[in-house]
Amino acid sequence: MNLRKLVLGVVIFFLFVALKTITTVDYLNLPVTPFEYNVSLPNFYANNVANIDNSPANNPITNNGATLGRVLFYDKNLSINRTVACASCHKQSEGFSDSRILSIGFAGGSTSRHGMTILNARYYQRGRFFWDERAATLEDQVLQPLQDTVEMGLTANQISERVAEQPYYNQLFINAFGNNAITNDRISKALAQFIRSIVSYQSKYDIGRATVNNPNQAFSNFTNQENQGKQLFFTPIPQGGGGCAGCHGTEAFVSTRPENNGIDATSTTDLGVGGASSTIRQNLVGTFKNSSIRNIELTAPYMHDGRFSTLEQVVEHYNIGIQAHPNLSGILKDANGNPIRLNFSTAQKNALVAFMKTLTDTSVATEVRWSNPFCQTNLSFTGTINSGGFQSSNAILVQNGGITQVQSGSYVNLISGKAIILNPSFEAKVGSVFKAQISTCQ
Ligand code: HEC
Ligand code: HEC
Repeated sequence: MNLRKLVLGVVIFFLFVALKTITTVDYLNLPVTPFEYNVSLPNFYANNVANIDNSPANNPITNNGATLGRVLFYDKNLSINRTVACASCHKQSEGFSDSRILSIGFAGGSTSRHGMTILNARYYQRGRFFWDERAATLEDQVLQPLQDTVEMGLTANQISERVAEQPYYNQLFINAFGNNAITNDRISKALAQFIRSIVSYQSKYDIGRATVNNPNQAFSNFTNQENQGKQLFFTPIPQGGGGCAGCHGTEAFVSTRPENNGIDATSTTDLGVGGASSTIRQNLVGTFKNSSIRNIELTAPYMHDGRFSTLEQVVEHYNIGIQAHPNLSGILKDANGNPIRLNFSTAQKNALVAFMKTLTDTSVATEVRWSNPFCQTNLSFTGTINSGGFQSSNAILVQNGGITQVQSGSYVNLISGKAIILNPSFEAKVGSVFKAQISTCQ
């Protein structure tokens, strides 16, 4: 280790001139004019889902309402120890689901089921939420994680208290609801508006679908394999297909009701919808709601317990693995009442997976209107590295727990008041002037 670098690093670590105190208010990065949250879907899609939209008449999406919802969704102050936000488990980069099998709550505890995507939540016509449908509406649902003892740990009263504590909410409530009354009802409405605004509609499938009259026609932008997979997906089992669209249907690729898809022969630990109310409903034991499978490539692992890590495993389940659960869906039984065996060839199975990957919409992960508003990327500052260490005109506290090397043009990434240098291979040169851009998330 070069001694000069070491000395410089240590100096940087300890010496910092803070000319400006950066507060949370500074971090909230919202546009002056709110983003548009009523996405305009292509015609084939809009017409198809118009009658399955679960938006209630008293809570239509407004741009200011969804903006408030966005801030709430990303605000870690809404967990008891301020460590977890909704977005900690519904990650934009992971299709608004969680790549963990079970999610981790505020105190490190695990959720009892896998965190599913909230994409296209709007198009589950029954309007019920959670794998076991225990929430009657999305407005009911969004207040539950806040009060869940594993997830966020607040009491009902603490929800509005925590929101009222933050200086930025006053104006956001005025914008959204006309005055600054902060109530759980308004919090739930705003969160639900934001979630309903998150719709996927820019996949390869959408491009192809827009060019034909019905989804059964071959898409010219698809490979032969993808078209074959599409056909298997849409064709009912008795006609040689996989029957998938029977349960993952419409242009939103959503189900119409909870079903049992035969992943277990019996239900012991998780009774699903059948166990969601005080008396066990035998005919619903082992049935689960499924959210949209749009973007399914990005939302692994799969099923309510996250048991499958790949789409190949999912397809193999439907191909040869379906078990004779007492409540197995009729769609997945043969004429004798036994679990169906698709017995697809390897080529057919690969085609089905290839088709599901055409539902991937990478724009979901980069849409700014759905992203973390506590992230700033537009603050920039310049500084000079001198023999006394690092000084900047618009000071920032840099702490990298060790050697920090800064060079002209390098980027500083500030995380919760501590900055780390994005590219640690930069070498500090005394006397160099640099411009740093801060990308920071609260
Ligand atoms: C600690 C992780 C965690 C946090 C934090 C969390 N969720 Fe979830 N979310 C989950 C899990 C796990 C499920 C599935 C639970 C179940 O079905 O029993 C879920 C389910 C959902 C669903 C149901 C989707 C559907 O199709 O039925 C919605 C909507 C949702 N969460 C929204 C939110 C909102 C809004 C917040 C913040 C207020 C939030 N979540 C915070 C883990 C989390
Ligand atoms: C009878 C209805 C039904 C049919 C037919 C069906 N599914 Fe499913 N599917 C479900 C249910 C219900 C779940 C969730 C089950 C659970 O988690 O316990 C599910 C889950 C999935 C998942 C994981 C979703 C997630 O968010 O984790 C994928 C992928 C999937 N199915 C693909 C397919 C494919 C491909 C086919 C056709 C070969 C198919 N499904 C046929 C009902 C069905």
